Amino acid sequence: MNKILVINGPNLNMLGIREPDIYGKQTYADLVEFVKQVGADVSVEVDCVQSNHEGVIVEAIQGALGKYDGIVINPAAYTHTSIAILDALKAVNLPAAEVHISNPWERDDFRRESYAGMACVYACAGLGFEGYACAIKFLVEYPNNPQQL
Ligand code: DQA
Repeated sequence: MNKILVINGPNLNMLGIREPDIYGKQTYADLVEFVKQVGADVSVEVDCVQSNHEGVIVEAIQGALGKYDGIVINPAAYTHTSIAILDALKAVNLPAAEVHISNPWERDDFRRESYAGMACVYACAGLGFEGYACAIKFLVEYPNNPQQL
């Protein structure tokens, strides 16, 4: 695993401002710095994409094919609605890890379904930024042990 693409969905650019009691006080820029440092620690190059648009996220997933070895994705609200993101993850068939800063399964009923998660080999929720670190580290080990979860 040499290169991982970290994709963040809608409203995650508002981290630090957005519902800080749920998502914390750190910003999206802090998150990018954090995941790049985690990548450096495990000798993996990490690129980051954030978009508020479903189609841009679909295109980022499609564009990862041939360029990245794995995807970490927090589809944010699209987690619970987007079959297009699920299909894109299935189409590229790269190992993908789902991350949520909060734990959607402990919140509103409508957050309980994850479509993207159906195409992911790993999920982490409720650990804040640390979930991204867990996901990156999981993907780094995944080629050696694809059964682990
Ligand atoms: C989220 C959880 C989603 O339910 C929500 O819509 C988000 C963020 C999280 O990281 O906790 O925007 O994915």
